[in-house]
Formats: sequence, C-alpha cells, structure tokens
Amino acid sequence: MTDWKNPPRLFIPGPVKVNEDVLQQLARPTLGHRLKEYSQLHSETVQTLKKMLFTEQNVFLSTSSASGIWEASIRNCVGFDETVLCTCCGAFSDKWADVAKGCGRKVEQLKVDWGQPITPEMVDKELATGKYAAVTLVYNETSTGLTNPLREISKMMKQKYPDVLVFVDAVSAMAALPLHFDELGWDIAFASVQKAFAIPPGLAVAAVSNRALEKSKNVPNRGYYFDFQLWAKSDQKNQTLVTPNIPHIMALNYQCEKLLKEGMENVWSRHAHMGEFVRAWAREKFDLFCEEKYASNTLTTVKNTRGINVAETIKAIQQKHNTVFGNGYGKLKEQTFRIAHMGDITLDDLKELLAWIDDEIG
Ligand SMILES: Cc1ncc(COP(=O)(O)O)c(C=O)c1O
Repeated sequence: MTDWKNPPRLFIPGPVKVNEDVLQQLARPTLGHRLKEYSQLHSETVQTLKKMLFTEQNVFLSTSSASGIWEASIRNCVGFDETVLCTCCGAFSDKWADVAKGCGRKVEQLKVDWGQPITPEMVDKELATGKYAAVTLVYNETSTGLTNPLREISKMMKQKYPDVLVFVDAVSAMAALPLHFDELGWDIAFASVQKAFAIPPGLAVAAVSNRALEKSKNVPNRGYYFDFQLWAKSDQKNQTLVTPNIPHIMALNYQCEKLLKEGMENVWSRHAHMGEFVRAWAREKFDLFCEEKYASNTLTTVKNTRGINVAETIKAIQQKHNTVFGNGYGKLKEQTFRIAHMGDITLDDLKELLAWIDDEIG
C-alpha cells in the first residue's frame, strides 16, 4: 500500500534520498526575507557556492525548479534576432530546445541518438557556420545516464568561438561532477537542489557570468520573475527579488558547508567510486546503456539485456523493502532502468539495493 507519510527510500535520479540532519534544517525558525538575518544567510550561502563552483562571478538563488533557469537563460541572454544552438542527446536536452522555441527564439538543434554524446567536433562544425549567439549543453543527461565531454567542448569553444555564450544544464552534475565555472568560460550553469545537493525539491542555483549579466541589459521582454537584472539588484543587498524558499536556503547552506569541508575533489571522487561500483555490477549482470567512457557518475542507466519486467521488479522491491529505483525514461522504459548514486546516497546503500535486485532477478 502506498503511503506518502511512509515513503520509499529513493534511488530514482531525483529527488534523491535526504538525510535526517538535512531535513532538520528545513524546520528552523523562519526569517524575515528583508531582515538582516536573511541577508547573512544569503551572503554566506552564495559565498560558499562560489567556492564550490570555482567562480568569482555571480551566483543566484531561484525559488523554482531548474526548468525555470532553462527559460531564464534564453529570455535573458538570447535576443529575438539571434539564433541559439541547442545540443540534444536525451529527454532533458530536447526539452530545453522546446523551451527556447517556446520563448519565441530562433533555435537550431544538433541532435544525436539517445545514449550518444555531443562531441567537440560536432559543436565545432555547427559553430563554424557563424550563425549562433549561444549554445545549450547538458552536462549530465539524466534520461540516458550520459555525461557529455563538456571540458573538451568548453576548451574548444574558448579557443575558437569566444564570443558564443555557453549555457550549461548541470542539474544532475553540480555538487557531484567537476565544475570549474570561470576556467571553463561558461556563462550560465544551474541545478535544482533535489539532485546531488540532496535536499528536497523547491530551489535552484544558477551561476551567471558577468558578460551574460551585461548582455541581458539589452535583451527586451525578460519578464519579471526570472529577470537577471532584477536578481542582480536584489543580490547586491544580499536578498532575492521575491520571497525566497528560506527553509531550503538553510538546508543548502548546511549542505554546501559540508561539501566544502569534505573538499570538492573528494566529493567528485566519492561519486566516481559509487559510479564505478554500480557500473561493475551492471556490466556483470546486464550491460551499460552508454559507452563506459561517457557513463555518468551520478546515475547508471542499465541496459535490460535479460528482458526482466522492470516495473514488476521495482514493485516487488518496494513491497519488500520500501525502496524504489527508476524505470527507463520515456521511450527507454523497460529497455533500461536507472539507479541514482549521488548526494548523500552511500556505497552501503547501493550494496543493499543491488543485493535486493539480485534476489529478484535470480
Ligand atoms: C538534466 C536535467 N535537466 C533539467 C531537469 C528539470 O529539472 P527540474 O525538475 O528541477 O525543473 C531535470 C530533471 O530531472 C534534469 O535531470
């Protein structure tokens, strides 16, 4: 029987498991969002995030999910007479292209089959046309469990196309995979907190370069809720434009402090270890959906080579252990399944889950 008050342990690729100490941060006494205590929390949190993201530029907190920043990136930084190149390699990168079209912008799509990466050569070939003002890239495609080679793409763009803006969806990457915002020359990178930050959903984090902020000044019809200019003005006072999700910011502050204390290199290698562990199991029992080189360290998409009934397996494990993992996304349902290994999920958690799956598949 389903009971939202006694929910299953989550191994779906977001929202992920949230630890009790993090949940407690959400229950702190509330603050007035125009009072000094909030400004202190805001400033501390933003400063910590800047260290985590290796940036000295702007970091904004948005009381929205990450999809809001899909829209914000386009509405703030792509003019109506400009064209944006949307690279598409799965459900989420496809959706960002739809959002850009929905914002009335000129969009061209660079598409590869689901499970294939976007490569520097492909991006280079498109950008060589000279048509584009900006590129959208998804760091980690959560639908396919694939990590795009963004370091290589970014290096190529910095060298050959320094004027093209780089927008990065880092939703299932930030706080888990290497991210050096300034060094890579990115203009926007964002995530929602229900992934590797391991906080319940309801808040997004966005790093925005100075040049992207400058550009937004001259882009018309930016709207209100996601207007970078208004965000920057509020941020100067260590505030947000609208009443923010203060409990989530307290939890974010707590998680970021913890991550910085651990050290970002250690955070990234902790995720790499979990990724390797789950991939070793997947290779032995099934196969990987993506080529190993591009397989994600935050989730594994397993190719269902044994033809198991994925939905029934998930149901059985939920009934016996009150635990769920993810079926394949969209058209990959039943052909694949997905296991998250990010945030506060541990190797011990994973060992337990994989043993339960082993029991089910025999
Ligand atoms: C890569 C990626 N981008 C964007 C989103 C959308 O994020 P949100 O649901 O926080 O709006 C998701 C959600 O799973 C995602 O995995």
